[in-house]
Amino acid sequence: MTFAALFEKHRTEKPRAYGAVYDALPAPARVLELGIKTGRSLLAWAERWPDAAVYGMDTVLGNLDPGVRAHPRVVVVEGDATDPSHAPADLLFDLIVDDVGYTSHEVSDQLKIMRNYAARVRPGGTYVVEDITTEEGLSELIDTASRLGFLAWAVLHPPGLEFRVLVLTKEP
Ligand SMILES: C[S@@+](CC[C@H](N)C(=O)[O-])C[C@H]1O[C@@H](n2cnc3c(N)ncnc32)[C@H](O)[C@@H]1O
Repeated sequence: MTFAALFEKHRTEKPRAYGAVYDALPAPARVLELGIKTGRSLLAWAERWPDAAVYGMDTVLGNLDPGVRAHPRVVVVEGDATDPSHAPADLLFDLIVDDVGYTSHEVSDQLKIMRNYAARVRPGGTYVVEDITTEEGLSELIDTASRLGFLAWAVLHPPGLEFRVLVLTKEP
């Protein structure tokens, strides 16, 4: 099933057009999403990548769907992604997704989160920033990413959406 279909099935908040980004990625062994709300996007990762360990973090866990905590491959952590001391200890991830959300999503937070989590992406792994609202913000993020050891990037700007998605590849 495509990610667009999985985002629909699990009723995530992600625009279905973002699915193309994730369809193109190799299956990760360990994925972390920052900003999960209901946690339903974690169920989409877990279904499409049946061998992956799936981690999620949010400042508020009160909105979680009951099925999320019960899932054997999903780990949910309460924490603030802008605070480096809240990062899950000593783990490297093949994929990190920043979906802390556009309403609170100033580029300064996206930059802070990228600085906090860049070292948690394993060599050759992927870091995705969703819901980038401005071209200036996008440029700042790419500039910072190049100083944090990311070698390549792609930008998805789906027709009709005001948001862009930045996909970064960590140096091998
Ligand atoms: C757009 S929602 C996430 C939607 C979800 N990823 C999905 O695909 O359905 C954004 C979430 O980010 C959380 N959030 C906001 N600021 C945060 C922060 N600094 N650290 C962690 N989570 C944060 C909010 O509590 C909210 O639940």
